[in-house]
Amino acid sequence: MSITAIIHLHGLFVILSLIGFVTRGYWMLRDCPALHARWVKIAPHVIDTLLLVTALWAAWVMFWSNGAHPTFLTVKIVGLIAYIVLGTLALKRGRTKAIRAGAFVAAIALFVYLMAVGKTMQVIPFVG
Ligand code: HEM
Repeated sequence: MSITAIIHLHGLFVILSLIGFVTRGYWMLRDCPALHARWVKIAPHVIDTLLLVTALWAAWVMFWSNGAHPTFLTVKIVGLIAYIVLGTLALKRGRTKAIRAGAFVAAIALFVYLMAVGKTMQVIPFVG
């Protein structure tokens, strides 16, 4: 598969992941029972696994196989872990709705930042 195709596939799973997370966060805020449906719990794991597989694949073809490791990749790896923690707080572990809502907004802000990092390949996107 060409590198362009891998990056586009990664971008596709990024969008699907964001749509899924925003939808579940909205259901959480509205106390909607759909949040607890079986497929709603399984589908994000499939999408997020594919997001990560395509991410690692692109990173390998573009950088790691040449012995390179740009800083923006470290930021994305750490950012992805932080996003998972915030996402779990928002949808499951947050004790009060205020904590869950705060974690939800922070997770979306972080995700959008990581999208900009991915697009620009810069730790501080759109500067310089
Ligand atoms: C929540 C986590 C992540 C988000 C939101 C994200 C988002 C994006 C976006 C929007 C792009 C541009 C796609 C396109 O132009 O169609 C991209 C590219 C890329 N991402 Fe990610 N990504 C994430 C995690 C990762 C991780 C963990 C890695 C590697 C370990 C990674 C490696 C890459 C690489 C190598 C590119 C190609 C850069 C380029 O040529 O534009 N991403 N990412």
